[in-house]
Amino acid sequence: MQDYHDFLAEILIPADELQGRIAELGAEISRDYAGKNLHLVCILRGGVLFLADLMRQISIPHTIDFMAVSSYGAGARQTTGQVRIALDLKEEIQDRDVLLVEDIVDSGFTIASVVELLSTRHPRSMQVCALLDKVERREVNVPINYRGFVIPDKFVFGYGLDLDEYYRNLPFIGTVDPNRYQPNE
Ligand code: IMP
Ligand code: MG
Repeated sequence: MQDYHDFLAEILIPADELQGRIAELGAEISRDYAGKNLHLVCILRGGVLFLADLMRQISIPHTIDFMAVSSYGAGARQTTGQVRIALDLKEEIQDRDVLLVEDIVDSGFTIASVVELLSTRHPRSMQVCALLDKVERREVNVPINYRGFVIPDKFVFGYGLDLDEYYRNLPFIGTVDPNRYQPNE
């Protein structure tokens, strides 16, 4: 396994900028959801670091749950249309104010499918909080109610986002130099 220094093109968002923006999002969410039944739904696995930091910046009582989705046609870096639930929520969401916590919205297919799937369970409300938004790549129109950063159309890794499942632990968002990255078998 390569050390990330071998293929890091640039640090797009340093750790302190991520944390600063997440503090702002947390404050905004705390204001907007005051008196509501806030239920954070983290989309695994990419959203896990974001959830952990975001919830510590939310000052109002709330609950959390997790779900995982996978796109039909495994192994692809790009989603193509509909996704299926790989791991479902533990709790029911009826009468809850669901806020989906996602690492990145790219084509938009993943989050649009999740919104569609969960809507059938009658949450009181459902909104989307995404750390990163690759706006240029959007193929389906899905409203992002809370957005950390707009980023260019580059493959990124770190802070929950993986490169072939590794490097999720890094505290920053980096871009990959494809000429220097050697995927494992
Ligand atoms: P979408 O369905 O095209 O919006 O893709 C969203 C999913 O693709 C995210 O939840 C990520 O898992 C993955 N993804 C998209 N872009 C990147 C990236 O630059 N790095 C790592 N994962 C990505
Ligand atoms: Mg993801």
